[in-house]
Amino acid sequence: MSNGPGTKSKLPDVGTTIFTVMSRRAMEQGAVNVGQGFPDYPIDPALATCVADAIAMGFNQYAPMEGNIGLRAAIAMGIGAAGGRSVDPETELTVSCGGTESIYSAIQAVVGPGEEAIVFDPAYDAYDPAIRLAGGRCVHIPLAAPHFRYDWERVRAAVNDRTRLIVINNPHNPATSVATAQDLDTLAGLTRDRAITVLADEVYEHVLYDGRVHQSVMNHPELRTRSYAVYSFGKTLHITGWRVGYCVAPPELTRELRKVHQFNAFSIAAPLQEAIRLYLERHPDAWRRVGAFFSAKRDLLRTRLAGSGLELPPAQGSYFQLADYSSVADCSDVEFTERLINDAGVAVIPLSPFYREPPAGMRIVRLCVAKRDETLIEAARRIGEYTRAGVHQGARA
Ligand SMILES: Cc1ncc(COP(=O)(O)O)c(C=O)c1O
Repeated sequence: MSNGPGTKSKLPDVGTTIFTVMSRRAMEQGAVNVGQGFPDYPIDPALATCVADAIAMGFNQYAPMEGNIGLRAAIAMGIGAAGGRSVDPETELTVSCGGTESIYSAIQAVVGPGEEAIVFDPAYDAYDPAIRLAGGRCVHIPLAAPHFRYDWERVRAAVNDRTRLIVINNPHNPATSVATAQDLDTLAGLTRDRAITVLADEVYEHVLYDGRVHQSVMNHPELRTRSYAVYSFGKTLHITGWRVGYCVAPPELTRELRKVHQFNAFSIAAPLQEAIRLYLERHPDAWRRVGAFFSAKRDLLRTRLAGSGLELPPAQGSYFQLADYSSVADCSDVEFTERLINDAGVAVIPLSPFYREPPAGMRIVRLCVAKRDETLIEAARRIGEYTRAGVHQGARA
């Protein structure tokens, strides 16, 4: 496809992401936005104070390329305090522009022209384009319905001598499923003695429900030797707009990631890194509250949607809740999303854009629970009113 004289799109099929599109539509329509994954509640005022403090302290020039060493040390200490393995902040930890930049840099560091990377659909939208920009082929394997589990036999069949990377996301957006210890063992077996690196997108590491424990590649004795693990302060501290994340990986993988990072983002906002460091120093338990916080929001949304006719598979983790609308409407998820925004005044996200080939007849949309209680209550009220009215075209009941 040509974009004009002398230009050729490297990603001809890529448009604006569904998240941006739905947030824009929500604004235009004045809809309640439970679509895009960002909090609509204020940040902790103590965190805001830390930004002012960091700026006053003089953190206003380029931060070190690898990240503020105080922040990296605090992250490493936090990992240790949570029972994780010890991480060397000098050689194994890099601060990035959100989790997104770590994902991009890891992919560019590992995948080359003609090589393959495996992702699991439904997949977060950042993986496939980054793999293709690296010249690689992105191999999409669906997670098995209805519980979005890994089909390891399909993975085994897809792995070959060109496979360089397997991308997992745990807890999973949008499936809300979490990987088990057995999943990680199987992945370790599949990648053993092969030139395959694992990219573990663990940005929702603290958002697990009902007593589940996060199974990180970092704590797996074998996988941690060949994995990039990616995290996001956006998710953990409710500051998605700050764009601060980080990547943990063994020294040799970190070295390669930094080669990309230093010519891409180069370094991350100095006052924001120092502000997070200060905040973690003043509130070392900040991470521990996240699970219970989102668990209460997930429960609130589920309770308020009871009787709406939507089926709500139990979310295991991440800050999303899926809703199966097959008993209230018989239309595509994109169409149902359109109806909800136009007729109910609620923005949600369809699941099909997360697939290369969406399963036929899939009737699932994604709702974000990282919202004020009032937002969740109003979204559920509007959805319930709409589905119970049953006046929409294509309604089954
Ligand atoms: C699964 C997943 N990975 C990565 C990211 C990106 O994180 P960040 O906002 O820190 O770039 C997101 C954000 O929504 C996500 O859902």
